[in-house]
Amino acid sequence: MSGEIIIAPSILAADFARLGEEVSAIDAAGADWIHCDVMDGHFVPNISFGADVIKAIRPATKKIFDVHLMIAPVDPYLEAFAKAGADVITVHAEAGAHLDRSLQAIRALGKKAGVSLCPSTPESTIEYVLDRLDLVLVMTVNPGFGGQSFLASQLEKIARIKAMIGDRPIRLEVDGGVTRDNAAAVAAAGADTLVAGSAVFRGSSVAAYTANIEAIRIAAETGRVPKLRDHPVQSMRFGESARTR
Ligand code: DX5
Ligand code: ZN
Repeated sequence: MSGEIIIAPSILAADFARLGEEVSAIDAAGADWIHCDVMDGHFVPNISFGADVIKAIRPATKKIFDVHLMIAPVDPYLEAFAKAGADVITVHAEAGAHLDRSLQAIRALGKKAGVSLCPSTPESTIEYVLDRLDLVLVMTVNPGFGGQSFLASQLEKIARIKAMIGDRPIRLEVDGGVTRDNAAAVAAAGADTLVAGSAVFRGSSVAAYTANIEAIRIAAETGRVPKLRDHPVQSMRFGESARTR
């Protein structure tokens, strides 16, 4: 995994007819993680794909599978996503009444645990579960669709969560409308992990994907808070997927 900034292309914007090839292409193009958006048509107003699709594309790369579950209820499905090959499993704070229990369940499955917050959800929601977290995902669009516009109102939330995280080894991820034009502001606010869908899957070739990923990475590196360069959170790595393939 290269650099301190992690770029996680969202395969929601990929060509679903060639999903395995698209995952191989973004792997070759320098993606650090593969972001998988799971939608149920209930928690969010759209349906994408589930654990069987993730299992089918898992052999296409050894990179980290960063699985963003926009589903409710979520607890009954955690094991299926763990078995399908997820490395990081992120649930929504709004998806159920028992976030603490969901996070414990993810770690009990041997996976990294993440929580995601919709734009209207305050950061105080995660105050008492910080020690159960490996990742916080701040939504910068209302979840459900790719290609929406970035909500700048969330930059302040990102900065507040960065302060809440302190020295904990928790990655701070941003998802929704991220482009080369706002990546610097996102990183300056404290984010270290950037999801991008439509800004990456443009051009339909490894060369185009490489340029798209690199442009976002360079912008984010430029905006990164300099004094955090050697901060423990910044240097934390999840490494390659633990799965043997
Ligand atoms: C939205 C998803 C995002 C989205 C990102 O519900 O969680 O991952 O697909 O796509 P872009 O970058 O196009 O906003
Ligand atoms: Zn997502």
